[in-house]
Amino acid sequence: MTTKPIIIGMIGAGFAASFHIENYKRIPGLNVRIKGVTSKSKEKAAAFAETHDLEKVYDSHAAILNDPEIEIVDLCVPNYLHYPLSLQAAEAGKHIICEKPLTGYFGNGEAALIGHTTPRRQMFDHALRAADEVVDAVTRNGVTFCYGENWVYAPSVTKANDILAESDNTILRISGEESHSGSHSEYAKEWRYSGGGSLINKGCHPLGAALYLKYCEGVRKYGSPIKPKSVTAEVANLTHIESFLAEDDKWVREGWKDCEDWSSMMITFSDDSIAQITASDMVLGGIQNIISVYSSKAVVHCNINPNTGMLTYAPSDDIMGDTYIREKVETRSGWQFTNPDEDWMNGFPHELQDFCDSISCGRQPKSTVELGRDIVAVCYGAYISAETGKRFSLAEWM
Ligand SMILES: NC(=O)c1ccc[n+]([C@@H]2O[C@H](COP(=O)([O-])OP(=O)(O)OC[C@H]3O[C@@H](n4cnc5c(N)ncnc54)[C@H](O)[C@@H]3O)[C@@H](O)[C@H]2O)c1
Repeated sequence: MTTKPIIIGMIGAGFAASFHIENYKRIPGLNVRIKGVTSKSKEKAAAFAETHDLEKVYDSHAAILNDPEIEIVDLCVPNYLHYPLSLQAAEAGKHIICEKPLTGYFGNGEAALIGHTTPRRQMFDHALRAADEVVDAVTRNGVTFCYGENWVYAPSVTKANDILAESDNTILRISGEESHSGSHSEYAKEWRYSGGGSLINKGCHPLGAALYLKYCEGVRKYGSPIKPKSVTAEVANLTHIESFLAEDDKWVREGWKDCEDWSSMMITFSDDSIAQITASDMVLGGIQNIISVYSSKAVVHCNINPNTGMLTYAPSDDIMGDTYIREKVETRSGWQFTNPDEDWMNGFPHELQDFCDSISCGRQPKSTVELGRDIVAVCYGAYISAETGKRFSLAEWM
């Protein structure tokens, strides 16, 4: 538990910034002062500051970085900004909380449709270089980097790790998925802002949890993580299928410019165990955040969302009024996996608590910059595999 107030500046005032700020507020005993916010739109930043009762609206991210009172910057900005803002924050001596993914390939930000034209190997080399630069800048400047992989903190994943640690257990296979009916953010639909499609933007979550569980197993057994050694993958644009495009009423989001909306990765670890990760932006029925672990001595299904903690039924939508059911579900009626505390099941309060505690105690968080960096390597290795149709060896980069 923290003892002195930690002063935080928010960069970004959209979806992620909102759930971050709500979850800072709900951690008992956490002494944080969210001093202010900046975003691309000054009006939206001002509205965000008013909603959350913040002291200040900053003109730019540079103004936050120049404020000597700010100790942590919380980066809730589109993916292409994670790398430059992390570097600048580290050089300014600020601790960093950064949303996923750590970084990627975004071209020069000017050219459109780079996802159609850029060889994946070029993307891999560039993205890995950028990720390694962030690791280096953080180390050199002695700041803490907290990588926003909330699945590492989801209570069910924490419990899975605890169960696996109880005996001499080998994780043989992990199967995980994050899918829903399509991102709300227009940034997600263009490679130059997002660094890829569903594979990196959604797949990074179950992948992050899978790597974390294997890393913990390795540390328990050998004193060092069990790392991925190769990846094979396929990607597709299922929302480009002609008969879907011709339909009138669309429930699945469309308009993916140069990013895939479906992906599947198969990761082999150095001990020959495997993780199968699926991610997509074309699944109706609410978000699917699930991961299963098949070990030598146990089977664990982590139903982060949906889960049966609560079931509701109403014959029509209006009966439920404004009740929040769960992320991205299309209707409130019928039987529903209504989530009484989605943020809790997602691990958001646990994540932010560990981030703040790790910074105030000068220790590493559970979700580190190195984990973020390895996720970039696996995802861009997967893009090479999908392009070439061949297994991609990660041995050199792990
Ligand atoms: N962990 C999760 O479950 C989760 C969920 C959603 C999003 N995310 C991540 O959060 C990040 C933000 O996504 P989002 O959904 O909040 O997007 P969003 O579009 O809702 O919000 C992005 C915010 O960044 C601001 N912004 C853009 N350019 C800026 C700049 N140059 N300077 C300052 N602010 C700028 C925008 O004004 C906006 O307020 C992404 O990296 C995404 O991957 C994580």
